[in-house]
Formats: sequence, C-alpha cells, structure tokens
Amino acid sequence: MSDTRPLAVVTGGSSGIGFELAAQFAAHGYDVAISGQSDRVFASADTLRTDHGVEAHPYRGDASTYDGVEGFWTFVADLDRPVAAAALNVGIGLGGAFVDNTLEDEFKVIAVNVTGTVHFAKRVVQHMAANGQGRILVVSSVSATTPTPYETVYGPSKAFGFSFAESLREELRDSGISVTALLPGATDSDFHANAGMGNTTYGDNSWKNDKTEVARQGYEALEAGVDHVVGGDDKTKQQAVDNRTTPETVKAARMAENSKPR
Ligand SMILES: NC(=O)c1ccc[n+]([C@@H]2O[C@H](COP(=O)([O-])OP(=O)(O)OC[C@H]3O[C@@H](n4cnc5c(N)ncnc54)[C@H](OP(=O)(O)O)[C@@H]3O)[C@@H](O)[C@H]2O)c1
Repeated sequence: MSDTRPLAVVTGGSSGIGFELAAQFAAHGYDVAISGQSDRVFASADTLRTDHGVEAHPYRGDASTYDGVEGFWTFVADLDRPVAAAALNVGIGLGGAFVDNTLEDEFKVIAVNVTGTVHFAKRVVQHMAANGQGRILVVSSVSATTPTPYETVYGPSKAFGFSFAESLREELRDSGISVTALLPGATDSDFHANAGMGNTTYGDNSWKNDKTEVARQGYEALEAGVDHVVGGDDKTKQQAVDNRTTPETVKAARMAENSKPR
C-alpha cells in the first residue's frame, strides 16, 4: 500500500470525463479509486496503473441504486486511507420528448444524478469532516444554466448539482474542505450516444469539447479551490456567461433546435 500518495475517488471514472479526471489525479501523484457500471472499470484501472505507476482500485456497481452507491463507498472505506479528493462525476443523460419517455428512465436519471450524488457526498463529506480536510469536485454541466427541452429531466438534475455544490461549499468554508463545481459544455465522450441522442446535433462528437481538456480544467479548479469552472473552449465559457442574461424562453428555443430528435 502506498503510504505517501494521497487518495482520490472518482465516481464514473471508467470512461469519458471521469476517466480523464482519474488520469489527472494519477498524473499528479494520487492513487485512485474509480467506479463504473461495466467491466470496463477493471481495464481502465489497469491503464491508470500502467500509465502512471500509481495504485488504481476499480469497483463495479450500479450508481442508480442505494446498494451500488453504498457499495462503492464501503469499498473506498475498506482501503482504510484518508480520501484527499473526490470527484462526484457519474451522471447519465436521456434524450427524447418527456411525453414519450418512460417514467422508469426519467427516474433513473434522477437516481444517478441527484439521489446518488447526495448519497455519495454524504459519505465523503462526513469522512473528510472527521479528517478536517479534503477537496470535492461536483460535475454539473452548462446545462445547469439553461432550460434543456428534449433533455427535460437531465438539465434540472445538473442544475441541482451546481446549486448543491455552491451551497455545500459555503457550509464547509471553515472546515478545511473545499467544494468546486465543474460545468462542462458538450464534450466528446460516449455521453450523448448513451443518452439516446445520436439523432440530434449532439450525435456528432467532432465539434464538441475535448474530454481531456475539460478534465484538466476541472482538476486545476479543484486544486485551486475555486467555486466553479466552466469546462471547455472559449466559446463554451462565453456561452455560460451569456446564459446569465439571456431570457429562459430564448435559451429554451435554442436548446430545442440542437436536442430535438430529427
Ligand atoms: N459529455 C458531455 O457532453 C457532458 C456535458 C456536461 C456535463 N457532463 C457530465 O459529465 C459527467 C460524466 O459524463 P461523461 O460525458 O463522461 O459520460 P460517459 O462517457 O457516458 O461516462 C459515464 C461514466 O459513468 C459510468 N456510469 C454510467 N451509468 C452508471 C451507473 N448506473 N452506475 C455506475 N456507473 C455508471 C460509466 O461507466 P461505464 O464505463 O461502465 O459505462 C462511465 O464511467 C456526467 O455527470 C455528465 O452529466 C457531460
């Protein structure tokens, strides 16, 4: 066991932005524990070990269930080490019209993105509070700053994450624990394909932000202890600024153009 390297935990760290966040931690000398829903998590841990020479602890579980979230925390706690940093990254999308989607699928978005985030944050915060230190990154989205028609439950779930992070940050201000929100713009992971949005503007990854760069910006914001960072290129950052003053109806119409199934 490493007794010198700090430990970072990344939910949904087996692929996409989460894997790139885990790689950032590993490249900066952290051992990592990562979770995922498929066996890919084991291969991803192998890659992190090989590429960075750190310990990488993989856990497979379903983050939409109480047992899946609690199971990952128990796995981390069993490592019996202080968690120096935690990225609450796991999240799923769901495209399509609200009138057509099943209630079960909408509930799963809430279970992973909202309930699961609160659940894992509870364990992490209480653990870090007992140690008097730690850094937390909550992965939200630029979707938190706009209505998201045809992702009608997803966007609000990310707005929850952003407000949750900013709220928690203030509560923990004098505790030695920092909380940072990462708001990526559209990013070139499997996210939109997994959300069933292949037949929208988001189906094409070529124009999106680079997941490595998004993760790098998130990692640096975490280490700097800032309250939030928009992840992506200058256009993405400007869009988030503009969203503060653009009427909700205008933003909703614009988003619908990109997310409506063709
Ligand atoms: N990509 C974007 O455009 C974008 C934009 C803004 C915000 N975000 C946010 O960024 C975060 C990461 O998204 P991403 O783009 O990296 O997505 P992704 O490529 O779809 O990766 C999702 C990760 O979460 C894991 N996962 C999914 N469902 C799970 C479940 N039920 N239980 C356990 N693990 C599960 C996946 O595991 P497997 O590898 O086993 O499938 C994978 O590691 C999310 O919170 C998302 O909302 C993404």
